[in-house]
Amino acid sequence: MDNRPIGVFDSGVGGLTVVNALSKILPNESICYVGDTARVPYGNKSKNSIIKFSKEITQWLLKQDCKIIIIACNTASSLALSYLESNLSIPIIGVIDPGVDWALLNTKNKKIGVIGTRATINSNVYNIKLKNKDREISVFSKACPLFVPLVEEGFISGEIPLLLSNYYLSELKKTGIDTLILGCTHYPLLNKMIGRVLDSSIKLIDSSLATSDLVKKKLEVNNLISNNKDGEINCFVTDDAKNFQFVLERFYNLNINSINQINVF
Ligand code: DGL
Repeated sequence: MDNRPIGVFDSGVGGLTVVNALSKILPNESICYVGDTARVPYGNKSKNSIIKFSKEITQWLLKQDCKIIIIACNTASSLALSYLESNLSIPIIGVIDPGVDWALLNTKNKKIGVIGTRATINSNVYNIKLKNKDREISVFSKACPLFVPLVEEGFISGEIPLLLSNYYLSELKKTGIDTLILGCTHYPLLNKMIGRVLDSSIKLIDSSLATSDLVKKKLEVNNLISNNKDGEINCFVTDDAKNFQFVLERFYNLNINSINQINVF
């Protein structure tokens, strides 16, 4: 048994999709969440900046005595996971590998689509990981940079997201994919809209669900499961907490114990 918290971080509020999934399958675990709201978005930043930001946050999470760290951000997982893995003494999990594994389990025709931020798509990491596991897979990627601000402004249904989804997904529609990885924390909030635009038979892979499943297995295998009665969720942000709270209340039905501003850089 290990009652230390799980450390989770993202560039902002999007990683709460992972916290949401974790709190459902691991209700006894306490979570210490960092949203780097002062430096969001990561999706248009360089690899060096993303590694630097991720390093600063993981160091802060280590000081909170976390037992495992989850990078609940596709961009940071794409660009900083391998650096962090080789420099940390506790387990660390990103959101890319779980999404890749679920996609491979679901595809029948071996044609997989990936959508994400520009940094994630340009890193080519999904393409590399999918093909490393199955050489016969064809990958069709598309950066959808405007989806993040769209979600943060509250547009998850209606005319504007429909227009933008048609714009971004029209090429993917012609590829014959049977599986689409939602390779960005915010995209599961648009899954109804994306499902409306694409053929309804296309399986949408929500990395937050795939990741929480893997975290549970990892905690069990390493004897790190908590026996707390109820897990606490404490959030820490690097900018004023108001906007974070606004998006949190609008989209997530989460029981948060506290939100505090911190300085990690
Ligand atoms: N969290 C980021 C991701 O999953 C999206 C927001 C950002 O660009 O920082 O890629």
